[in-house]
Amino acid sequence: MTPEVRRAAEILRAGGLVAFPTETVYGLGADASNSAAVARLYAAKGRPPAHPVIVHFADAPAAFTWAREVPPAAHALAARFWPGPLTMILKRAPHVGDDVTGGQDTVGLRVPSHPVAQALLRAFGGGIAAPSANLFGRVSPTRAAHVREDLGAAVDLVLEGGPSEVGIESTIVDLSGITPALLRPGHVRAADIEAVLGRPLGARGSDAPRHSGGLERHYAPRTPTRLVPGHALDAEILRLGGRAAVMAFSRPDERAARWVRMPRDPVAYAQRLYDALRELDGWGCAAILIEAPPDAGDWAAVLDRLRRAASAA
Ligand code: TXA
Ligand code: MG
Repeated sequence: MTPEVRRAAEILRAGGLVAFPTETVYGLGADASNSAAVARLYAAKGRPPAHPVIVHFADAPAAFTWAREVPPAAHALAARFWPGPLTMILKRAPHVGDDVTGGQDTVGLRVPSHPVAQALLRAFGGGIAAPSANLFGRVSPTRAAHVREDLGAAVDLVLEGGPSEVGIESTIVDLSGITPALLRPGHVRAADIEAVLGRPLGARGSDAPRHSGGLERHYAPRTPTRLVPGHALDAEILRLGGRAAVMAFSRPDERAARWVRMPRDPVAYAQRLYDALRELDGWGCAAILIEAPPDAGDWAAVLDRLRRAASAA
């Protein structure tokens, strides 16, 4: 254990806030059993209190002590995907506080694989409540520098762990109902989960739990952002008089104010996505134009985030 990780665990035990890297995005952590610490966490993010937060653990046995029912499907998914970028919603155990569940009967559990997250969870020993370490409604952080930009002095310590490998938030699957349902697409694809479950995932039902990732316009830059089909991109750049910041697969023919090239592979695209959005947003252009990726299979998670970034305020 490094001295930094030891200090981070001490800060958590004392009710403080520690930002830490995970393989998906950076999380803002607090002791999930300490209501005052969780309240500080919500205040630092500017997050409404009724929103539930994911609780992180070092391994599946520890995580499952926070659920009162662990269906065979949860064991099967844990064996296949934990540690890794999957969050499971399960019925909460009696000791789990309303502050991490938003008062719901369920709790979100995740076992991250990032070595620094693992070291912190082992040093701390308990559950760490951790939403993404950004201000509420803003783009999630994939680098320690993003966390400092957004949260600055509101965090007691930021653990450095390099750029996040996955780059978008974990896949969320709800196992608290009769039919398992996908609440948020991610790097672990619906098809991969269905292969383990041996049955199709249900659509999110009307009785499904509330979750802030389900709000319209959640992962949004400040600059007005639009998704544009590739064939219409040049016309849009022209219409904006070149004052557009562009995210595209290849150099536009029309001169944009600035542009970034995105990978044609959805996994590489996801890894780069939030960093690119922050960069484009920082240029202060009139608009951000994003060349729409194909609306097909493996792009589901990226498209979900792009649509939210681009939905009107
Ligand atoms: O990859 C991730 O999941 C990152 C890293 C830090 O682990 N965390 C993350 O947390 O994205 P956050 O709070 O930004 O998003 C968590 C999502 C929210 O949409 C939240 O409402 C939902 O999970 N969630 C948490 N507990 C829930 C529950 N009991 N029922 C339904 N949704 C829940
Ligand atoms: Mg978030």
